[in-house]
Amino acid sequence: MTSIPTLETDRLTLRAPQAEDFPLYRDFYADAEGSGNYGGPLRPDEAFRRLAADIGHWHLRGFGKWIIVFRQTGTAVGGCGLWHPMGWPRHELTWWLLRAFRGQGIATEASRAVILFAHRTLGWDRVETHMRDTNQPARRLAERLGGTVTDRVTFPDGVTRDVFLLPEGAA
Ligand SMILES: CC(C)(COP(=O)(O)OP(=O)(O)OC[C@H]1O[C@@H](n2cnc3c(N)ncnc32)[C@H](O)[C@@H]1OP(=O)(O)O)[C@@H](O)C(=O)NCCC(=O)NCCS
Repeated sequence: MTSIPTLETDRLTLRAPQAEDFPLYRDFYADAEGSGNYGGPLRPDEAFRRLAADIGHWHLRGFGKWIIVFRQTGTAVGGCGLWHPMGWPRHELTWWLLRAFRGQGIATEASRAVILFAHRTLGWDRVETHMRDTNQPARRLAERLGGTVTDRVTFPDGVTRDVFLLPEGAA
């Protein structure tokens, strides 16, 4: 079993997903508008499977998604990490936040720590992300991280997406 490390940034702790995070997943996926670009809305039992998959991915792949927690208050607000589903051609940096916590730079701050982790701890030479053309917040985030479009790929779900390469020293 992979031991899941904890990462710290100025405002955030990125820690392993755990059973106690179920309410966070339930609430995120119950919000149809907030989770619409992330496979939602989902019923609570489906959200539980997402949590189980996020934990399992660490053990299957040796990397995965963290829970993002405010250091000062301990409030869990979403997730960020590295994801590579079976059968998909590449791994990606991915993020999701409860709507109440968007617009504060949280995903940007978490991403920088995860990109450094990918390079320095996992030894990756590339960190990429991709999103639907209609997902403007995710696209803005990739650009804010200094990402540049290096490819356009049709993924196994039939959706064609731009692929962004994210620099190691994301601005
Ligand atoms: C993608 C997603 C995580 C982006 O969230 P976000 O809040 O826009 O991103 P950040 O947390 O980095 O915040 C950036 C915003 O905060 C503002 N901001 C405020 N303080 C900031 C700070 N200290 N540092 C950086 N940005 C800051 C930025 O100006 C930016 O606002 P803008 O987009 O209006 O220009 C969010 O939209 C989401 O959870 N979507 C649903 C899941 C999803 O679609 N995931 C991607 C699938 S491909």
